[in-house]
Amino acid sequence: MDRTQELIKQDVANLWHPFTQMKLWPGEPPLVIERGQGNYLYDTEGNRYFDGVSSLWVTVHGHGHPAINQAIMDQVNQLDHSTLLGLTHPKAVELAAELVRVTPGELSKVFYSESGSTAVEIALKIAFQFWQQSGRPEKKTFVALSGAYHGDTLGAVSVGGMELFHQAYGPLLFDVHRLPQPHCRRCPLGLGLPGCDLACAEALNDILDQHGDEVCGLIIEPRVQGAAGMIIQPQGYLSRLAAICREREVLLIADEVATGFGRTGLMFACQLEGVQPDLMALGKGLTGGTLPLAATLASDRVYQAFLGEFDEFKTFFHGHTYTGNPIACAAALANLRIMQEDQVMTRLGQKVQRLSQELRPLRRHPHVAEVRQQGLMVGVELVQDKAADRPYEPGLRMGHRVIMAARNHGVIIRPLGDTVVLMPPLSSSLEEISHLADAVGRAIDEVTGS
Ligand SMILES: Cc1ncc(COP(=O)(O)O)c(C=O)c1O
Repeated sequence: MDRTQELIKQDVANLWHPFTQMKLWPGEPPLVIERGQGNYLYDTEGNRYFDGVSSLWVTVHGHGHPAINQAIMDQVNQLDHSTLLGLTHPKAVELAAELVRVTPGELSKVFYSESGSTAVEIALKIAFQFWQQSGRPEKKTFVALSGAYHGDTLGAVSVGGMELFHQAYGPLLFDVHRLPQPHCRRCPLGLGLPGCDLACAEALNDILDQHGDEVCGLIIEPRVQGAAGMIIQPQGYLSRLAAICREREVLLIADEVATGFGRTGLMFACQLEGVQPDLMALGKGLTGGTLPLAATLASDRVYQAFLGEFDEFKTFFHGHTYTGNPIACAAALANLRIMQEDQVMTRLGQKVQRLSQELRPLRRHPHVAEVRQQGLMVGVELVQDKAADRPYEPGLRMGHRVIMAARNHGVIIRPLGDTVVLMPPLSSSLEEISHLADAVGRAIDEVTGS
């Protein structure tokens, strides 16, 4: 048996894969990825693939970036790990200062963890405890969006709004007030821009009219609901919600786990509408896609509510063993340095434009309902009947078939149902972006028979 076969056999014997029906695994033989360089992944058979979803939305400057690698190696030799309970270390300190500097608004304190889910969990707990310690203990519930995805821990699942992922855990979850999904093509309110006057955002006022006294925070994926299929909120939606939150004493929690670090065209999606959240969750691209690190940032106002004498017990009783791991912090610092030194954000505009231009023909494709793009985040939604806006039968697994076909054109991407997701690294060249769009177009043609 060759090496690839042997690895797959051992995988099947011992591994349990995320979001995967293991009875059907591996189905088609999986690629065994053993090397990453630049914007490419290499499998054990020596094939090269463009990393069209940034390895699940994390890779920023490409794989194996020498400056990040060097920062990691230097840090390994200096200090591999030390706890932030009762001690501190230079990289945690330096990174916190950088994050405070680059994030929008008044965010001034950084709490580390290891995944987007935990960053969200921490934001929820801080928001809840903030009101307990601010003389408003009745403020105990959250508002979240229909179709939201905030991670897989129980608090994050509670505020998440994806039935399929969440239905099994119902009895374990806390209740949340739901805003209608701001999905203009399939507006749940049956309205349309501009006449709707953002009724989907105004729905927050309705919820607060009924339950305002008990609502402690609103959590949102700003501008793009990623896992829902790259659903892009209409212009003005985010700032309208932010204004209502501020007026009606609700903390605004921006989950920028997916949108942060340049994916939407600006460093953070909140900046698209000048929004200043009270809490922000970061993960994924924080280390440039190299190591698991997440951060929850809080404004000074929020932080102040946790200060008191020891026996007042206002402490935030939360912390993970690897909180603020120095190697991960060093990688994140290198990531932010590259952003600045290489002027990554300045050069991003033309890449976003190229992607938009290359995807234009797909907008007219008979089996593409919509191409949704914000920055380098793209969802291409497939439908069986475009005129009737009728989706394919789920069992046909069209999204899955398209991403498998794309591999034959040298590209790795992932579907969300029948929405094909593209999220190339920020380091992609214009040629690579053209190749990605071309490969996806061909794959869609082949699978839909158009
Ligand atoms: C918006 C958002 N929040 C939170 C998460 C969870 O992050 P993680 O998978 O690192 O726990 C994700 C993951 O895709 C996400 O897209």
